[in-house]
Amino acid sequence: MRIDKMLANLGYGSRKEVKKLLKDGAVTINERVVKDAKEQVDPNADHVTLYGEVIEYKEYIYLLMNKPPGVISATEDGYDETVIDLLEPEDVIFSPFPVGRLDKDTEGLLLLTNDGQLAHRLLSPKKHVPKTYFAVIDQEVTEDDVAAFRLGVTLDDGYVTKPGELKILKSGITSDIELTITEGKFHQVKRMFEAVGKRVIYLQRISMGPLQLDENLELGEYRELTEEEVNQLKELP
Ligand code: URA
Repeated sequence: MRIDKMLANLGYGSRKEVKKLLKDGAVTINERVVKDAKEQVDPNADHVTLYGEVIEYKEYIYLLMNKPPGVISATEDGYDETVIDLLEPEDVIFSPFPVGRLDKDTEGLLLLTNDGQLAHRLLSPKKHVPKTYFAVIDQEVTEDDVAAFRLGVTLDDGYVTKPGELKILKSGITSDIELTITEGKFHQVKRMFEAVGKRVIYLQRISMGPLQLDENLELGEYRELTEEEVNQLKELP
């Protein structure tokens, strides 16, 4: 890859601005000052510095966010704040996008990446990646509901869901539950409870495939995935 492209991709300026940095002698490749923007560099093998600071190249970014309520899972919205608006500029330059959608009022685990291939695999209905949600329901959730979800319930549009694993954590005037599903239909969890005459009053995603919501992340905070987490995602069948 050309050195000017590598630096521009990493957000060190436009191609024109990067050319100026090169001309000023600010850049070295393997300890040699490089002034030619066309100079080739292997981002994974060569040692590149800018004003003496080592430049680490990465093509892909993987971010785990604890999505807050009131924010849209999209890259752009004419009206509301989006999850991209919550990112630092140094992460936005990689053009990450949310992998799937959480409703505006849903909180919890949201993966953002610019790795389109991985996102596609995670979202593919054929892959059946399990997603687990914690929810508060407006009334008593019963073993009948557990049995109904295990069989699959019929949504308002006639679609019969794949089996969902419903665990009752607390049952009473309101109930706390965990539900694991392997599909991602629009408003699926809310509509599954509507199918049994109940309403979700709070919804939080706590896991997606091998990823768990990080309890150290406050609402609206995010961190990069660890190498191990990225590898686990890539190893999904
Ligand atoms: N199911 C829903 O109803 N909403 C979400 O945000 C995610 C799953």
